This record gives sequence, structure tokens and C-alpha cells, in this order.
Amino acid sequence: MADRYAVIGNPVEHSQSPFIHAEFAKQTQQSLSYEKLYSPLESFKATVEQFKKEGGLGANVTVPFKEQALTLCDELSDTARAAGAVNTLSITAEDKLKGDNTDGYGLVTDLKLQFGELTNKRILILGAGGATRGCILPLLNEQIKQLVIANRTKHKAKALVEYFNHPQLSAVGFDELSQETPFDLIINATAASLTGEVPSIPVGVIHNNINCYDMVYSAKPTAFLVWAKQHKANNVADGLGMLVHQAANSFRIWLNVQPDAKAVLNKLRENLK
Ligand code: ATR
Repeated sequence: MADRYAVIGNPVEHSQSPFIHAEFAKQTQQSLSYEKLYSPLESFKATVEQFKKEGGLGANVTVPFKEQALTLCDELSDTARAAGAVNTLSITAEDKLKGDNTDGYGLVTDLKLQFGELTNKRILILGAGGATRGCILPLLNEQIKQLVIANRTKHKAKALVEYFNHPQLSAVGFDELSQETPFDLIINATAASLTGEVPSIPVGVIHNNINCYDMVYSAKPTAFLVWAKQHKANNVADGLGMLVHQAANSFRIWLNVQPDAKAVLNKLRENLK
């Protein structure tokens, strides 16, 4: 029987992960199965235990279980601990559950491919939920100049800054953004794009040298990216690359083989159309 992997979520039917991992397996000639595993909200722990009992070797974890997954792990990577969330579970040879978080790696890899190195950049991240928290350490590890977290509800941004306590990290409310030194890059990590909204930040933050990234992806450019382009941002990109690169890192963690993310990204983009 092929080695068994899965993505566990609720809902999970929309997940692109089975397609991505099947493509990676083909590319690298690995024999594995990768399925969608729906878990009832109240029994995530039981779902993981059953999967482990049946010989599962690894799983991606998606909404809304990433924080809960962290509490089930016997071992955690530094990134998962900092993120407060696990998106990659591995069952070790000693039958232990190891938790990792590859979302930040996915973001940073895609940002560098899309826009170039992050060294010395002033970066603005919008939102202060789990998506932002998961990416703070990987971004700070890129020798950036400054990472400013702006959130509609400022105290949540401040709480993240207090938690990470890093000299390059600060928090503002949306209304304070006009007073900030210009940024090189804006990352939209809010949930606004899911409902076609644009976070209400001042238009003045956009200039013709700024790059804008939305963690959300869709067939058409997200509302935030359309807005940024309208106001003459330099370059924009959505989060499809982040999705594929986080998957590539999970695949490498499980199988110790680096797949070609770019080839799969091109196919996924075609499928979205
Ligand atoms: P996730 O885990 O995906 O980050 P979350 O923890 O629910 O999800 O956080 C959602 C984030 O999107 C929050 O920062 C939220 O702002 P508030 O803390 O003020 O609620 C932000 N958000 C959601 N809808 C938004 C909108 N229309 N405009 C601006 N920010 C929005």
C-alpha cells in the first residue's frame, strides 16, 4: 500500500492540496496517497489519532484546526511554536507527532520570487490574526528593515508586537498609516478579500515603487490588488504561490525531496481559470 498523507480540515472539499501533492509525487517518482480528510469540529484529536492508527505518515492541517494541532504535538519546530499554529504534522519513526508550520516559508519564498530579496525592506502587514502571526518570524529572519503590523482593531496588532518583542517590529491602527515612512511592500493578511472588501487604509500608502501581495488567491485579482493597481502600485501578486511553496516545504519535510513548485503553480493557475 502507498504511504498515506492527508489534509485535515472543516470544510476541506475546496482544498487544492491533494492536486498539488499528487503532482509533486509524480514529479519526484514517490509512491504516496494524499486524501482530503474531513474532521467534525469537536473531534479533531480523534481524527488525528485514527489517521495515525491507520498508518498515516503526515498531514497538512487547515482551517480551523491549526491552533489545536499545536496542542496535540509531542515535538514542535521553532516556526510552529512562534506561529502558535501547526499546518504540517509528521508521524515519526518513534510514533510521535511532530508539528511544523510552513506557511511563513511559503510566503517568504513567493515574495522573493515575485518581488526580489527582502533584505532592508520596510514591510507593512495588514491584519493581526493567525495568518499574520504565522509569518512574523519568517519575515523577521530575512534581515528586513522594519515590519509594521496594522490592524483595524489596533490592540490585536499591539498584542502581537508585545508577544514577539523584536526591535524591527511595531504596531499601528489603520488611521495612523498616513504618518508612516513609505513602505516597500504591503502584505494583505486580513480576511477582507474573502468578502471582496479592501481594508480601509489610506490611499497615500500606495506609490509607484511599492509592491502589494494578497495572501488570498482567486481566479480574478482580489479587490485589494485591483485597488493597489488602480492607485499605481508597482507590482502585485496573490497568494497562490504561497500555497504551492508551503506545500513544497511540507513535502520536503515528509519525504526529504524538494519538488519543483513552479511547474505545479503554472498548472494550478490554469486550473483556476
Ligand atoms: P486568520 O487566521 O485568517 O488571520 P482571523 O484570526 O479571523 O483570521 O483574523 C482575521 C483578520 O482580518 C483580523 O486582523 C481582522 O481584523 P480585526 O482584528 O479588526 O477583526 C481582519 N479583517 C477581516 N475583515 C476585514 C476587513 N473587512 N477590513 C479590514 N480587516 C479585516
